[in-house]
Amino acid sequence: MAEPQPHGQDTPSDLSSENAHAGRDATPGAAVIDVAHEAARRAGAIIREGVAQTLQIDYKGEGANDPVTDVDRRSEAAIAETIRAHFPDHRILSEEGTTGGQDPRWRWIVDPLDGTVNYAHRLPFSCVSIGVEHDGEIVAGVVYNPLADELFAAEQGKPATLNGAPIHVSATSELRRALLTSAFGPWEAGGRRFDRARALGPHVQALRDLGSAALELCYVAAGRIDGMGGSSLNAWDVAAGLLIVRQAGGQVTDPYGDPFKIDDKSLVVSNGILHGAIMARLHDASEAIPPKDSTDPPKEPMSPNTPPTTTTVTAADTAPAPSHP
Ligand code: IPD
Ligand code: CA
Ligand code: CA
Repeated sequence: MAEPQPHGQDTPSDLSSENAHAGRDATPGAAVIDVAHEAARRAGAIIREGVAQTLQIDYKGEGANDPVTDVDRRSEAAIAETIRAHFPDHRILSEEGTTGGQDPRWRWIVDPLDGTVNYAHRLPFSCVSIGVEHDGEIVAGVVYNPLADELFAAEQGKPATLNGAPIHVSATSELRRALLTSAFGPWEAGGRRFDRARALGPHVQALRDLGSAALELCYVAAGRIDGMGGSSLNAWDVAAGLLIVRQAGGQVTDPYGDPFKIDDKSLVVSNGILHGAIMARLHDASEAIPPKDSTDPPKEPMSPNTPPTTTTVTAADTAPAPSHP
């Protein structure tokens, strides 16, 4: 694993507008990658503090089964405040609805807390994800897991990094030696997520569902896992991770093998070597992937009649049981 290295994340005054790279804005004194670092670190501090605090959990979405916590919202507010302080004109697309300026060239695509279900259950596998798009291309991305103090980052044309050190996808070449993960949405219709697991499961070393698509993309980038698949995804789940995994040598397509577009809902990610084998297994199981031009059936709500509810979860609720002598 790469050794943590300090980054000048909180020192926007260090920034220079001399760099003409596409990830740099004309705004004097600020570069998007450094502002993304600053925003991710600020949000990360809020997420870290929240672990010891009482969480307020609301449920959104059709099935009232999609949790959002007060920490998601506070994280988003801190990220938006940071972006606006440097780039008041840049647009913001953020999961909890915060928007920014009107500049059509720049868009920040933000998931203030990816892995909310994990977080609400106190599983330490969640992150902040911030991707920056310029003229329709992701040019910078930062994914930060504050609970492990791991910051993944990439800029277009540069190697992806973990805590400042370059990372690369794995060299695993046999599917039976591959560890894959899935970020298949809970509502996926017709049990297709299980069809995919059935199609791949017997042929790989292991298949996991870790609960944070953004971090899973980064884990492929760092060679910790060899590939992943996802469905029911949104741009904020993947914007930063896509760039990070590509800049680490990974391959990303839609489930039909075509180039992945930011608004696509499903993807297949790999170290490149295994991509063909993964796709072949998925396509062998005809149920796993519908024909490309078919429309996905509507989401099947888990509990259609359940009204949105709010609960609180305190640290004590999830504290480890006292050990007995
Ligand atoms: C979720 C996670 C999960 C994926 C879901 C996403 P959230 O994001 O990325 O891994 O399977 O589709 O909605 O709600 O924790 O930000
Ligand atoms: Ca997410
Ligand atoms: Ca989220």
